[in-house]
Amino acid sequence: MSNLSSAAFWNLTFHVQTFGCQMNKHDSERVTGMLEALGALSVDSVEEADIVVFMTCCVREAADVRLMGQVSSMKNIALRAGSPLRKRMVAIGGCIGQRDGGKLLDELPHVDVVFGTNNLASLPSMLESVLDDGSRLSETVEESEAFPTELPTTREHSWAAWLPITIGCNNFCTYCIVPYVRGREKSRPFEDIVREAEGYVAAGVKEITLLGQNVNSYGRDLYGNPRFADILQAVAETGIERLRFATSHPKDLTDEVIAKFGSVPNLMPALHLPAQHGSNSILKAMHRSYTVEHYRELVSKLREACPGISMSTDIIVGFPGETEEDFQATYRLVEDIGYSQVFTFIYSKREGTPAAKLVDDTPREVIQDRFDRLRVAVEKGAYDFNQAQAGKTVPVLFEGASKKDERTITGRSPENITVNVPLPDEMSAEALMGSIANVEIAEAKTWYLRGTLA
Ligand code: 5AD
Ligand code: SF4
Repeated sequence: MSNLSSAAFWNLTFHVQTFGCQMNKHDSERVTGMLEALGALSVDSVEEADIVVFMTCCVREAADVRLMGQVSSMKNIALRAGSPLRKRMVAIGGCIGQRDGGKLLDELPHVDVVFGTNNLASLPSMLESVLDDGSRLSETVEESEAFPTELPTTREHSWAAWLPITIGCNNFCTYCIVPYVRGREKSRPFEDIVREAEGYVAAGVKEITLLGQNVNSYGRDLYGNPRFADILQAVAETGIERLRFATSHPKDLTDEVIAKFGSVPNLMPALHLPAQHGSNSILKAMHRSYTVEHYRELVSKLREACPGISMSTDIIVGFPGETEEDFQATYRLVEDIGYSQVFTFIYSKREGTPAAKLVDDTPREVIQDRFDRLRVAVEKGAYDFNQAQAGKTVPVLFEGASKKDERTITGRSPENITVNVPLPDEMSAEALMGSIANVEIAEAKTWYLRGTLA
């Protein structure tokens, strides 16, 4: 990046369109940071943008299909008036870029640049070369050149920061494409993480979320094998007001980390712990390496360490070979745990994964019916969890005006539940954004709480 002449980017506008997980969102912040550092201007819509960058996801087929539609529609959108370019530049990055590489240039003639998950840093020079000579370029690499965190960043919210501590995944769950497109797990040096966290605290950031496909296995590839519990403690000690982490694999969640929920006051009482399924035979076929009994025991220990902790999870319905009895086991798990939120997914076959070779003959309607039935348990869990918050006074980190009503401000409780608060007459949403204030919870719905400033 250092030998780029940033003059190429002056007067250019860009828009980054992001799909998928938090890691992708974070990568998008790096892309925005790099392009802004070179003088380009970030804009909110593709219509106004000279350069459109798609940060893609291929974890399920639906995301794949949607992306192709959106990319194709680019050719029908006119370039903005006053653009210095003759044609809008379109770049595809993220997991589909990594998976399909140069094939995308063949399939989509109006795409100019394809890059992958491991070479974000090359994007500016690739764009510059295309600007120079009108060529089209694809470049993906197997191993990451640098931890993306070393790149500039423009955060979505000034008060919250995602901080990647690992990239990649070594778990190879049989349904999952991630290890093939994000590569092997790599941990970021301990000191770099702490230094970045200290920088955020000094800059007034209120909440840090440590990120990784499986944060619990942090440090296994580093000298001295620092553990995830150590980095959690060290980041907590920077004095950050709110600390969270995602995602955790149940097989690697240690008692030491569980104990932190009871002993580290700024570690928020919320944990996303993907169960994926409630039946041991399916968990085995998924190569998840734990039993549902072990999972339930983890939740008991978490609740002992931190009563009132908010549990959320991911569940896959319709994995190949799932019987009604297997599904019932998932249903019971969701009912028994009482999650505040469950992300439910219908199994989506991904070519190249081991599960793609399994016989998959459960009729679509049967799977859809299970999925619909599960929603009932999911909604009941969320409703009951939220009812228990009614009447409490909770500190809320405010994010901005509600999308539905500009006189309502929305934020998050420590348990990560959305809290809506009507703005007092004399107050603007901007005045509260990024700050933490106490809210008396008057009303609890399935997906949000409502209250007034205390
Ligand atoms: N089909 C359906 N859901 C999947 N997930 C990952 N791969 C697949 C797939 N092939 C889900 C898992 C994971 C979440 C991010 O996406 O539940 O935790
Ligand atoms: Fe995919 Fe499993 Fe890795 Fe999560 S832990 S990213 S589900 S392979």
